[in-house]
Amino acid sequence: MAPPEVAANAPHAPVAAPRLCVVPGDGVGKEVIPVALEVLQAVVPELQVTLAHAGWQTLQETGNALPPETLAAVRGCGALLFGAVSSPSQPVAGYRSPIVTLRRELDVFANLRPARGWQVAGAWPGMDLLIVRENTEGEYAGRERQEGDTAINERVITRRGSERVARIAYQLAAAAGRRVTIVHKANVLRVSDGLWRAACLAVASEFPEVPTDEGLVDSVAYKLARQPDRYQLLLCPNLYGDILSDLAAAFAGGLGMAPSISLGSGCAIAEPVHGSAPDIAGHGIANPLGAILSAALLARHAWARPDAADAVESAVGRVLAAGLLTPDLAGPGEPTIGTQEMGQAVLDAIDS
Ligand code: NAI
Ligand code: MG
Repeated sequence: MAPPEVAANAPHAPVAAPRLCVVPGDGVGKEVIPVALEVLQAVVPELQVTLAHAGWQTLQETGNALPPETLAAVRGCGALLFGAVSSPSQPVAGYRSPIVTLRRELDVFANLRPARGWQVAGAWPGMDLLIVRENTEGEYAGRERQEGDTAINERVITRRGSERVARIAYQLAAAAGRRVTIVHKANVLRVSDGLWRAACLAVASEFPEVPTDEGLVDSVAYKLARQPDRYQLLLCPNLYGDILSDLAAAFAGGLGMAPSISLGSGCAIAEPVHGSAPDIAGHGIANPLGAILSAALLARHAWARPDAADAVESAVGRVLAAGLLTPDLAGPGEPTIGTQEMGQAVLDAIDS
């Protein structure tokens, strides 16, 4: 088993009485988050939990998709387990995706997306990749405008923003013995990705014990698709990390399995990568493992409790090895179980 990974801004000693704000959100968020919370409470029984609300339904009920008391609760706890929210594709007056606002308000600048080859159909055995994605800048900095028939997006890369996410990546790599690959397109985007690359390489020089290489984003995508276990840690600007992490998730068992955590200086947000899945919401068949594995990331990175994270991740491995599958993981004709049963199976595997 890989050595524990603890982020720089995470406490170095286990947090005695961790506090957690829980926001299930919309759709399958309401189904997978209670299950994930139950699993987390089994391994961190002293957890103090505050329930809060955000999302499309909250907008209908209160007129605000992210009520101020929710933001205050998250700030007070310093850690959030978030499900998913439904966002309309067309602009709606007064609506902004609450998770986008939360990420920005709480300045969670490093998004960690592990992709492991779980024992399910289509996954790549032996894959163990961590994608560390800058979470606040690049094309997503919000500097987009239209001038007549021309749309302009200003891509913002700062030295500070690049160095702080690179430092987290290198600390994680040093703790886990991973090689870091700096992802960029500096051969074309010489100024913006040039600054990103230089800032990452400057941080790399502080960690001589961590092997470093670099790759152009298109070539990294190609090589990842050809050989998913080729990389150990991809350090990416925002947009590249968004895209490469979905590609990696496809080799790790699919969207229902993909966890994430965003770290900043004062807060951590854990959330499954998937959305509210309106096509399956309400049927009790959503895969809760992405949410369960996200909860484990809180234990590992926000509370310095790698023992608790390992217990959950090993239990997930045992459940899948036993052939228990939600419909998204099953092949044609294979028997399946629902959200609750999968949660119970993980709880049983923790005890066994
Ligand atoms: P989605 O992730 O909700 O669903 C994509 C596909 O994956 C669907 O076929 C769905 O059934 C399946 N899927 C997702 N989660 C699953 C799970 N746990 N178990 C089994 N299957 C699962 O993405 P989509 O359809 O693009 O978006 C639906 C809604 O979710 C939209 O309103 C979108 O804005 C929102 N969304 C919210 C996110 C967030 O809150 N972080 C992220 C992505 C989308
Ligand atoms: Mg995405």
